[in-house]
Amino acid sequence: MNKLKTALLFAIFSSYFLNAQSLKSPDGKFEMNFSLKEGVPYYNLKYNGNTVLEDSKLGLRLFKDSAIKFASEVAKPEDAANDLNYGFQKTSEKRDSKNETWQPVLGEKKNYINHYNELAITLNQKSTDRNIIIKFRLFDDGLGFRYEFPQQKNLNYFVIREEDSEFDFPTDMKAWWIAADYDSQEYQPQTTKISEIPARWPQSFDSNASQQMVKNAVQSPLMLKKEGKYPLYINVAEAAVLDYPASHLEVDAKNFKFKTHLTPDRQGAKGYIQTTSVSPWRTIIVSPKAEEVLDSKMLFNLNEPTKYTDTSYIHPTKYMGVWWEMIIGKSQWAYSTAENVHIGETDFSKLTPNGKHAANNTKVKEYIDFAAANGFQGLLIEGWNTGWEDWFGHSKEFVFDFITPYPDFDIKMLNDYAHSKGIKLIMHHETSGSATNYERWADKAFQLMNKYGYDAVKTGYVGDIIPRGEHHYSQWTINHFYRIAEKANKYKIMVNSHESVRPTGESRTYPNYISAEAARGTEYEAFGGNNPDHQTILPFTRWIGGPMDYTPGIFQTKLDYYFPGDKRFVKTTLAKQLALYVVMYMPLQMAADLPENYAKHMDAFQFIKDVAADWDDTKILSAEPGDYVHTARKAKGTDNWFVGGITDENPRDFVVDFSFLDKSKKYEATIYEDGKDADYVNNPQSYHIYKKTVTSKTKLPIHMVRSGGYAISVKPVK
Ligand code: NOJ
Ligand code: CA
Repeated sequence: MNKLKTALLFAIFSSYFLNAQSLKSPDGKFEMNFSLKEGVPYYNLKYNGNTVLEDSKLGLRLFKDSAIKFASEVAKPEDAANDLNYGFQKTSEKRDSKNETWQPVLGEKKNYINHYNELAITLNQKSTDRNIIIKFRLFDDGLGFRYEFPQQKNLNYFVIREEDSEFDFPTDMKAWWIAADYDSQEYQPQTTKISEIPARWPQSFDSNASQQMVKNAVQSPLMLKKEGKYPLYINVAEAAVLDYPASHLEVDAKNFKFKTHLTPDRQGAKGYIQTTSVSPWRTIIVSPKAEEVLDSKMLFNLNEPTKYTDTSYIHPTKYMGVWWEMIIGKSQWAYSTAENVHIGETDFSKLTPNGKHAANNTKVKEYIDFAAANGFQGLLIEGWNTGWEDWFGHSKEFVFDFITPYPDFDIKMLNDYAHSKGIKLIMHHETSGSATNYERWADKAFQLMNKYGYDAVKTGYVGDIIPRGEHHYSQWTINHFYRIAEKANKYKIMVNSHESVRPTGESRTYPNYISAEAARGTEYEAFGGNNPDHQTILPFTRWIGGPMDYTPGIFQTKLDYYFPGDKRFVKTTLAKQLALYVVMYMPLQMAADLPENYAKHMDAFQFIKDVAADWDDTKILSAEPGDYVHTARKAKGTDNWFVGGITDENPRDFVVDFSFLDKSKKYEATIYEDGKDADYVNNPQSYHIYKKTVTSKTKLPIHMVRSGGYAISVKPVK
């Protein structure tokens, strides 16, 4: 090597090291390197010395003024000078670390461990004299980073045009994804290589009540797998999406690179920021084991501890609902035949009943009787309140008042009746996307709930959002969802929200915001179907940030039972429906089918009656996205365990290894498995139940038929 070359290399290296900072995870397996290349910030990530992420760009683009009118008027090329993605120099760095154990109010485990090393780099943009901080947290399960915007002379208010955080992978990988949309997540997951996403993208979604697709972009959490001898499972997501829009991932299929794409408001603005402020965390969970991805609590760790002073009203609840019969079209939410009603004016008692209104006194009492007799705590009733006649598709702002029951729903009598039997009714607030209207009525609605003793509400946002032009995942609407959570806390009410943004670990901060739907749930079995692998993918995507109201428990999977000739069916066996109660963590867990269908299979229903909804411990026994998931969980405050396993469209054998059990105890296991002749298409209701004594040494072989599964309840023998 000649001298000139050596000098040059030395110059390059020393400038790299002057500008590069490195951070290691507590176990030393991960290494994150931050660098500035000609004033532009980059980071990369290594696991066991192997590159997970190549140098990936960081930064934000801004609108010039905070007083923007319309995005088209202001997005001029010369505005680039205002961006926060160039001309930086590092002014300081700060290191920190934490190793704490905290207890979620409701959770998959008693203790969540939050253990990380942190590096915060302050950058100064010389030309504008503005400072931002990029904060990295490296855990033993991956990386989180975010932008922080301290209050300062030249940075007080700004409007984001786009966040440009990148995730640049070195190789093509298998990807489990759904198409990006500013308004819905209710799509079938796709399985392709990263490089194949653009080709698949146009066929990857069907229509939705509210929809604004983002071409060649995917939603997060995105699940990836580097295949081969040394596989690596990677999950790209975000955490603590508060006062900021939710993000999508634009795909650069040639370079295996993803770039953040925020949800805009109607002006094209992607976040109105007042300093001091922070962005959400961008997260990358990485492990050679798929099971460890499911075990990661990173998104929750990256959210703030709750400030709620009283969480005693938050409790696990198993519930039934006057619901599935409307979803399949057997009954209706609406009471009358009218097509145009005026809330506060129309006298509903004078309208002609349509004869199909499910939320009526007689039927609700029957549901209460059945739910009470079988040990449930809650009963959801949809269609109890006036307004369903024209609730949908008219951009009607004043669509419900959330306080006026239909004439055949005696709210006092039914609540008294329910309480006398140990059941609490669960309130339903469908907003039809009219969030402004809900904000106006929420106090009165929650007061009504307090008056009659409801402690949980299911909210819903079907259709386009009002304020018109806002999206389900834009900053305003996300603020709305958490404002409602905070208000509900004031009234000691738990929230389960449908069509809202996917949770990203916020249940740590808002523990009464129990769950969301935010994906394609069981209802889609009646609207077009869920593929047999759907439930094996959801835990790796939708569940990474918190529970989903999937509403399992359909025993009568074939809908031709109700409507002869109807081709719709739930694409699982009955035993797989049972397994979902363990695989799908949900502290507000539904048994979604009709009482009459459970009554025919009381032996299998016993599992749903027994299974817990809140846990002291969880072991992911074995999992592969898109193929299978086997989970064991220990019920809160007891020595009872529940095991559940599901498979995709392939039959599979599995051996349940009970070594997670207490070595000194003997247990009785009740096994609910697919019958020998079970088949999710031709014979879904064939199952086999038997009992067996098990110990920590037992290894139990199980066979699952295609789209089948099994559930086991394990109780210590006294
Ligand atoms: C869609 C929800 O997902 C479903 O559960 C609910 O029944 C309907 N909206 C009506 O609110
Ligand atoms: Ca829905």
